[in-house]
Amino acid sequence: MKKWFAVIGDPIAHSKSPNMHNAWFEEMNIDAAYIPLHVKSENLESAISSLKTLGASGWNVTIPHKQTIIPFLDELDPLADKMGAVNTVVRLQDGRLKGYNTDGAGFVHALEEVIGKDNKDQEVLLIGAGGAARGIAFALQLFGYRKLTITNRTVEKAEDIIVELGEGKAMSIKEAEQSLGKFGIVIQSTSVGLANGEVKLPLSLEKLQEGAIAADIVYNPLMTPFLLEAQKKNVTIVNGLGMFVHQGAIAYNYWLEQYPNTNNMIKRLTEELEQLI
Ligand code: ATR
Repeated sequence: MKKWFAVIGDPIAHSKSPNMHNAWFEEMNIDAAYIPLHVKSENLESAISSLKTLGASGWNVTIPHKQTIIPFLDELDPLADKMGAVNTVVRLQDGRLKGYNTDGAGFVHALEEVIGKDNKDQEVLLIGAGGAARGIAFALQLFGYRKLTITNRTVEKAEDIIVELGEGKAMSIKEAEQSLGKFGIVIQSTSVGLANGEVKLPLSLEKLQEGAIAADIVYNPLMTPFLLEAQKKNVTIVNGLGMFVHQGAIAYNYWLEQYPNTNNMIKRLTEELEQLI
């Protein structure tokens, strides 16, 4: 029987996940379909019940349901449990629902696709302490990046994540600007500068180390104001598209036990996004 998958969220029309997963099904000869479903918060419970009744094999979860879906699941992967957020649901053989979070691991896979796995000793600066940053912080720790500093406009939120991690440190934006030169990897995870074309940075990059690695989680535009500024310092750039593709690939692997081709997908989506500029 044909399998089917979905992404649930509000809004959902802009999601690139259906194109990506359907292209992978075709490439890998999987008889399956993946559809976007617009689910408002007040309909979450009935939507999950319908997904079960109609036999979905799994689905992705996006804003605003990543936290609120948890009470409706039967089991949580330990990382999703720590993060308190789910972006992937798997319907197990016995019909129970298991929640995963592939966002943070997707980021680390994408980072390592560009810089390899030999940079785990670097000092890492994570800018931002929202939902995306939490996922990345836990995944960095899991993958062996143990020298983590988090900076955020509201420094208490950075401190909270550090307490949960049990290692690393939090600092103010001012302190991070002053000590920027010691960080080999700098990751931008805030939503600063995304609103109506404003060009703003979450912090000054004046002291950014030459040859550092600068990563952003935003992929539209591919080159964010942060990456454009960082590029002036001869750094290695990691844009947010790899994270998006790898979070999808890890979800695909949970559903179908095969890892799809991420390189081709990144190339294809890069071309699509470049045409939009
Ligand atoms: P997400 O789930 O995408 O991480 P979020 O949880 O709303 O979104 O987090 C947004 C992040 O961007 C936070 O780190 C936020 O900083 P605060 O915790 O201080 O709010 C940061 N952010 C958003 N707008 C900002 C701005 N204008 N200046 C500085 N930081 C900003």
